[in-house]
Amino acid sequence: MNKTSMILDVDTGVDDAFAVLFAAMHPAISLLGVTCVDGNTNVDQVVANTLKVLDAAGAVDIPVARGAVRPLLGESKYAEYVHGADGMGDLGIPPSKRVIDKRSAVELMRDLIESSSEPVTLVPLAPLTNVALFLRAFPETAKKLHRIILMGGSTSAGNATAAAEFNIWHDPEAAAIVFQSGVPITMYGLDVFMRPGVTREEAESLKRSTEPSAQFGGSLIHAFIERLGVSPITLGDYGAVATAIHPEFFTTEMFDVVVDTSSGPARGQTICDRRDSFLKELEPLDLEDSAKVRVVMDLDVEAVRQLWLRTIDKGWS
Ligand code: BDR
Ligand code: CA
Repeated sequence: MNKTSMILDVDTGVDDAFAVLFAAMHPAISLLGVTCVDGNTNVDQVVANTLKVLDAAGAVDIPVARGAVRPLLGESKYAEYVHGADGMGDLGIPPSKRVIDKRSAVELMRDLIESSSEPVTLVPLAPLTNVALFLRAFPETAKKLHRIILMGGSTSAGNATAAAEFNIWHDPEAAAIVFQSGVPITMYGLDVFMRPGVTREEAESLKRSTEPSAQFGGSLIHAFIERLGVSPITLGDYGAVATAIHPEFFTTEMFDVVVDTSSGPARGQTICDRRDSFLKELEPLDLEDSAKVRVVMDLDVEAVRQLWLRTIDKGWS
């Protein structure tokens, strides 16, 4: 089997946890390392949460590194109202006994990419601060990346604000650097993010599994459903990971995209030019700041859901 060599950059995060669990367990993914960034919660909590998820996946050897403590400009804006006080559902799981890698997030990215025999897919599921710093610190190594598949942005409305999706809004300058880097980018944004979900009944069934990964995933989903009072809840960030190994489940389109870094109400918006070509020619998007980005616009919800359920619970039927 041809494996996809992957680095995840996360702000774990309930839905980041779903993604880490999946990437660590799927046989077609070689998860080289996980880097952590300030986002849903502070970076030390993100590290602690990520280690717990890898423990639950039985992936105790995957290096985890600490990254940026705040956005390039401005202050941190956490999402604990969604992810809980500990950023991962307040499950009360004891801390992992593992220690983190001594290298910083950008150093770990550099070393993993340089030493990989296969081109590496970088999958950021969080504000793009670490990735922007990596691109600026190690541009020659960045050229060796196969591509970036990121969770972030939207071709229409936002969630953090009316215009902007959380990961882009948290650090728009970093996002602009990443989008304009020249590395091929796939954007898995709010157009599809909410669609693959897991129900209360499915979460309860996972909790009854004999596998620790399934019990962990089920408990996380169950706690989230209880707290938010909605079922199903989205698998969120996980979808971006799935696009790397099952592109046939996803429909994409190419758009010119600009990240709004102004200080106005559209700060953090990903402006996607969806107009007909003759209108684009009349009044082009700012070509200097725009990037050609592959955007996920549709997906086979049931296939994507089942892929996750069957990966984290081998006995799922
Ligand atoms: C994104 O923001 C975070 O809260 C989620 O983990 C996801 O990466 C959705 O806007
Ligand atoms: Ca995230």
